[in-house]
Amino acid sequence: MPGKISFWDGRVRTSIATRLVLSLLLVILIVSVAFVAAGVQLIRNRIVAEAQEKVRYDLNAAREIYLSDLRHVSDVIRFAADRTLLIDMLISGDAEYAAAELEEVRAREGLDVLTVTDAAGIVLLRTSNPGQVGDDQGQDQIVGAVLRSREAVASTVIVPGEDLVLESPLLAERARIEYVDTPLARERTETVETAGMMLKAAAPVLGEDGTLIGIIYGGILLNRQFQIVDEIKQTVYEDMTYEGRDIGTATIFQDDVRISTNVRNTDGSRAIGTRAWEEVYDQVVLEGRPWIGRAYVVNDWYITAYEPITDLDGRIIGMLYVGILEKRYVDIQREMLLIFLGIALLGTVVSMGLAYFAARRISVPIARLAGASRELARSKLHARVKVASGDELGELAESFNTMSSALQERDEKLKDFATKRIMESDRLALVGQLSANIAHELNNPLQGIVTYSHLLLERMPSDDAAAEPIRKIVVQANRCRDIIRGLLDFSRQRKPDKTVCDVNSVLEQCVALVQDQALFHNIEVTKQFGRELPLAVIDPSQIERVFMNMIINAAEAMEGGGHLRLATRYDPGNCRIEIEFADTGQGIPEGNLEKIFDPFFTTKDARHGTGLGLAISYGIVKEHRGIISVDSEVGRGTTFTVRLPVTESEGVAVRE
Ligand SMILES: Nc1ncnc2c1ncn2[C@@H]1O[C@H](COP(=O)(O)OP(=O)(O)OP(=O)(O)O)[C@@H](O)[C@H]1O
Ligand SMILES: [Mg+2]
Repeated sequence: MPGKISFWDGRVRTSIATRLVLSLLLVILIVSVAFVAAGVQLIRNRIVAEAQEKVRYDLNAAREIYLSDLRHVSDVIRFAADRTLLIDMLISGDAEYAAAELEEVRAREGLDVLTVTDAAGIVLLRTSNPGQVGDDQGQDQIVGAVLRSREAVASTVIVPGEDLVLESPLLAERARIEYVDTPLARERTETVETAGMMLKAAAPVLGEDGTLIGIIYGGILLNRQFQIVDEIKQTVYEDMTYEGRDIGTATIFQDDVRISTNVRNTDGSRAIGTRAWEEVYDQVVLEGRPWIGRAYVVNDWYITAYEPITDLDGRIIGMLYVGILEKRYVDIQREMLLIFLGIALLGTVVSMGLAYFAARRISVPIARLAGASRELARSKLHARVKVASGDELGELAESFNTMSSALQERDEKLKDFATKRIMESDRLALVGQLSANIAHELNNPLQGIVTYSHLLLERMPSDDAAAEPIRKIVVQANRCRDIIRGLLDFSRQRKPDKTVCDVNSVLEQCVALVQDQALFHNIEVTKQFGRELPLAVIDPSQIERVFMNMIINAAEAMEGGGHLRLATRYDPGNCRIEIEFADTGQGIPEGNLEKIFDPFFTTKDARHGTGLGLAISYGIVKEHRGIISVDSEVGRGTTFTVRLPVTESEGVAVRE
């Protein structure tokens, strides 16, 4: 993380970077969560809606197959009713006449029942149970309808158990279904179903004169008849499986009991005798409304469609069902969700990474600005910030730099002003005047003391006991002379006598003057003089004084050993020559930095320093409209930089 959290004063302080990253993360998280929630909802709705739409179409197909079977029964019966064989049989009254032929029709067309009655509905021939004739079928729903209308009719009907026994005990046996306990089915007191559900058709047989001479009816018992449901499954779902189970299923219900189905029990057998979910039963059978939606089927959830099956009178007697295993869709849904979540997660991680870098791009320059501000607060007015970006941060950094330059400039002006004030103040002026007078008056007698003590020393044998005190007199007198000269220089403050000069050669001269002195024996002097230095309009003797003072100060600060680098260069932007004196000496403590230009400030003992060197230098440079600046670190060294304008006024002095 680019920022940090710290505990301070009992409160938690977070850096801008941390806050930036956290708020970006929060935004990303909120967006991701909303995105995922919307996506999940969308996927769920889409998949469920699609599955329901499909199942609705499947039910249409299933109905078509179911009705085509009913049509088939109806067609067979109508065709048989028109056959002369049947008409002849009814006219002759000899049932045996057509028995074999009709039995063959029944077997060929896959009917369970094919029976002929007379014009009153009394059974004459029953192919499925030849021994059973003479019973009255006139009350049967289908046969009764033909008797009344003399038209062919066909419908799904419920055939009571006793009628099934008449048609054939085998059929009655096939129709008999014991209920199987099914979760979520409605409560029923009965335990067994004896009636059967039949696709049944009947048609009138008419004599040549158009009178009704008999009725022929037939049907397919749907109980335990799997051809229709399997055909639906095969046609609609192409027998597709999922994890070893059929994806699509179809069922014919008699009331709420599965009498024909390819839904499987857990042991793999067909779920005959299991019953419908109560909610579905209520809606489809009791209320007569189709059901499209998920439903509990035997032992699992399916996406289903149910619709009522009605008999000839429009009574709801059962349901037709198709359903798709929900698990497949749930799994697809889960898979898509996982992919979706994966993408969202990846997106979040990538966004977080980007957020981190974005935050860093902001926080790093801010941290730099903060660091520079701290330096500025510690009076390090040279503090500057480097920010390359062209945005508001770049602007801020630029403003900061401008501000600190302005501060630095003002600081220099203040110093200048303060010095001037000191110089100009009456008292100091008086002191200056006085000291100048005294210095002047003292100069001649002192010169005498120096000269005569030298003479004395020269005439004295070197082992004379008095020689030592006289030598001390010479040293002290020399020092007094130095102080007096300094005082005179300082108080004189004469206007510089400027001529066109080469700064490099002035500096070279200074080096030549000092380098043989003992002080410089262990000091390595490097000269990096700018070659294209223009000539400057200066007072060479005053500037030499300044340079000498700088060089001697540096040498004294290095106390017998070190490296002094003298560099000159031209700053064309400001039309100034810069002269740098960089030493590896002891450095100047921060507290002294502001005092070193003060007159009489010295850290040297009385023999070495008067504390006037820098004060005089400062005055001289100022008179030249130049600047002296200092950069120092205790223990590492000090660099003084003198900047002198090359021109006296406007014109530039050019090297020839
Ligand atoms: N290069 C330097 N390295 C470390 N300290 C310095 C350097 N130059 C100046 N100073 C400090 O500034 C003080 C003032 O310097 P200045 O030249 O005014 O006086 P001085 O050298 O002490 O005496 P004088 O120059 O009169 O002989 C010095 O005493 C010293 O403490
Ligand atoms: Mg000095």
